[in-house]
Amino acid sequence: MQTDFRPESMQRITTIELANAFIDEQVKLVREQVKDKKVLLALSGGVDSSVVAALLIKAIGKQLVCVHVNHGLMRKGESEQVIEVFKKGLDANLIYVDATDRFLDLLKGVSDPEQKRKIIGNEFIKVFDEEASKLSGISFLAQGTIYPDIIESKGVKAHHNVGGLPEEMEFSLVEPVKLLYKDEVRVVGKALGLPVSMVERQPFPGPGLGVRCLGAITRDRLHALREADAILREEFAKNGLEGKVWQYFIAVPDMKSVGVKDGKRYEGWPAIIRAVNTTDAMTATVENIPFELLKHITNRITSEVEGINRVLYDLTPKPIGTIEWE
Ligand code: XMP
Repeated sequence: MQTDFRPESMQRITTIELANAFIDEQVKLVREQVKDKKVLLALSGGVDSSVVAALLIKAIGKQLVCVHVNHGLMRKGESEQVIEVFKKGLDANLIYVDATDRFLDLLKGVSDPEQKRKIIGNEFIKVFDEEASKLSGISFLAQGTIYPDIIESKGVKAHHNVGGLPEEMEFSLVEPVKLLYKDEVRVVGKALGLPVSMVERQPFPGPGLGVRCLGAITRDRLHALREADAILREEFAKNGLEGKVWQYFIAVPDMKSVGVKDGKRYEGWPAIIRAVNTTDAMTATVENIPFELLKHITNRITSEVEGINRVLYDLTPKPIGTIEWE
């Protein structure tokens, strides 16, 4: 078992060769730890859990059981990518749970952001727990804990990430990347052959689009948000901004304004673009997005997304604005 302390002498993993050496060592350690037992992993599709999944599949194959819970608040195409990469690509033992209705029913009429976060977090644990209890012979729980998690929250992944551990679960932990920094996890992911779009993914809050569909979530506004966000991501990727801007997304508030469409008055929601750069998410600066691109994105969103009739660009740095809107 590894300690939770990263020795000063530990070499930074910056190349595929170094990542391969790390992978070989971890494969050996995991096999020694797990032997012929089964390991359970909550696979969100985020960088850390994806890299852990790929590493463990290499080490123990079908002894790893991945559970992907779709809480209905994922970005467009994300759950599909998890299935594509892990089930089709890596032949993973993957259980996919579409819990969209459960989450959206519970969130109906709830407008307080912290209450929304609580509901999403608790329900996630409940769904994961239910899936775990259907399985027999699980001895270990794998987690995508990384070194900053250990430094910041004493080893428990995600104080505010969805996917925190149910406390009563009595599994031993398998945490193969717990001494790595994020950039190293990304290199390991590349060495394991994961798609660049997965390992270079921007941070995405555990409660997902739930905190970007501002106020009480409705299915139609959530759908509009997801489509608008997909257009923003597509345009940023096409225009070389994908790896350059730290975090970018759309938020859609629960308010309407008047517009005109086909000669008629038309009430719609505004889509708010947020695009920021930061190193630690404690402070952030607004990215200078070319005006022509902003106009192009505005045209696309307002013509392609049902329900959106304006696009706004948030120019507020952090502080004074937080990165998310709620
Ligand atoms: P703020 O909005 O506080 O965000 O400036 C800083 C970073 O944290 C992310 N964030 C969250 N991540 N669960 C998460 O896992 C959350 O509830 C949550 N709220 C904010 C945010 O996306 C940004 O990267």
